[in-house]
Amino acid sequence: MRPRKELQEHISDRLKQQIAGSPETTSGPMVGVNICVVGGGFVGLVAAAGFAQFGHSVVCVEKNPQRLKMLREGRIPFYEKDLESLIRKNVECRRLSFSDDLVGSVEGQQAIFLAVGTPSSETGRTDLTALEEVANLLSGVAVEGQIIVLKSTVPVGTGAHVQEILRQNTNGTKPAAVVNNPEFLREGNAVYDFFNPQRIVIGGSSSEAVEIIAHIFRLGMTHPVPIVTTNNETAEMIKYASNAFLTTKVGFINELAGLCDKVSVNVLEVARAMGLDPRIGGEFLEPGPGWGGSCFRKDLTEFAGLARSVDHPMLITGAVLKANRCQHQIVVDKIERISGSLENARIGVLGLSFKADTSDMRDSPAIPIIRQLLEKGASVIAYDPKANGEAAAFLPDVELAETAYDIAKDADCLVILTEWQEFQLLDFKRLADLMNSPNMVDARNLLTPEMVRRYGFNYTGMGQG
Ligand code: UGA
Repeated sequence: MRPRKELQEHISDRLKQQIAGSPETTSGPMVGVNICVVGGGFVGLVAAAGFAQFGHSVVCVEKNPQRLKMLREGRIPFYEKDLESLIRKNVECRRLSFSDDLVGSVEGQQAIFLAVGTPSSETGRTDLTALEEVANLLSGVAVEGQIIVLKSTVPVGTGAHVQEILRQNTNGTKPAAVVNNPEFLREGNAVYDFFNPQRIVIGGSSSEAVEIIAHIFRLGMTHPVPIVTTNNETAEMIKYASNAFLTTKVGFINELAGLCDKVSVNVLEVARAMGLDPRIGGEFLEPGPGWGGSCFRKDLTEFAGLARSVDHPMLITGAVLKANRCQHQIVVDKIERISGSLENARIGVLGLSFKADTSDMRDSPAIPIIRQLLEKGASVIAYDPKANGEAAAFLPDVELAETAYDIAKDADCLVILTEWQEFQLLDFKRLADLMNSPNMVDARNLLTPEMVRRYGFNYTGMGQG
């Protein structure tokens, strides 16, 4: 595995060159496409700004008036590295604009990307209300020659379902074609991932429509990227299967870390050696407090629900979901063991977002872990470089601090729950001096144990024997 810092510097240099290049330098003789992106959330904004940077003309439709106002002022309502500047640059070049008029914005556009929310319903299956609402509005409006592209993660069969909705109200005209183009962006690295995808998946029954969507990507790609073309259902399944596999990989390394702890083996050495085998691969083998984020659990639950509905239960997926819940408990147990007791203990938490480089707290492992600490009688004070603003809504009983040093004061244990790079640069002597007892649980294996111990910390990581 490449050291984290070196990898980040390499990524950031490459991205700077890509964002700095004007589309004219990368496009060659190919012609830009008129695009509408429906939904100004994380996926929609990255796609809208990225397509504009490719040289296409893009209008992004956002119906929330506050969000629309922010976007028009060149601001975004969450933290995502490089996105705000990319949006501003393309707005200034007049390749990107924002609107709340869905029907008006769709007129004359060749491709209409739908990036609306597809959350879990109470049953665990996907709630398609927002998508169906847009599809109904577009029925009779999006016609032959236009392409509706499903960018949101949608259950197998949704492409066909949307095609059926579009067939209504056609007044004799043929409806737009429906294509699936699932997203594989990672939060925190979304802009980089957009310009450097591992693969682009396009599924649809109209080969002309699929070719136009492929052209949209080819126009902007500065290096060859595999474009997988297939049917709608396969494209939908590829997205779920990919996320399910990634959670299985993280779930495996988390369980292995627990076993390594019991038998005094260092999981980091095991993971490194395993990852050198290309059949296994070195990524997604970092043990932590459990995977989180807005997608993994939602997608796994839909995937498992689909499997059950056709009488083919995915036993592995069920186990991965269960193992992830157990991982939270494992972290709580480590904190309890190292602190003596949690009753009246003061626990300082470093990091609340579900991973570094994002302000997103949705399904963050910090939420169940901190709730358990509170239930066991501890008081919790936390600091996150970007997620403090979101934290109050998720964890109203937690005191939030402005710096890492504020949380160390009189603490019985420090717990690292998110792998923010700035935590590696803390003054550990100062932290230890401020604490009641210098105990540390590093649930991300972010720090070098020998270094922290040198400053007097009683340190434990995940699976480091
Ligand atoms: C994930 C996928 O990686 C994307 O390809 C996909 O597009 C996205 O979901 C989605 O469906 O929208 P994301 O949720 O942004 O992306 O975050 P990841 O980087 O995949 O991390 C997910 C969780 O796994 C985080 O909590 C992270 O800390 C954890 N993780 C990841 C580990 O604990 N260990 C690892 O080795 C890797």
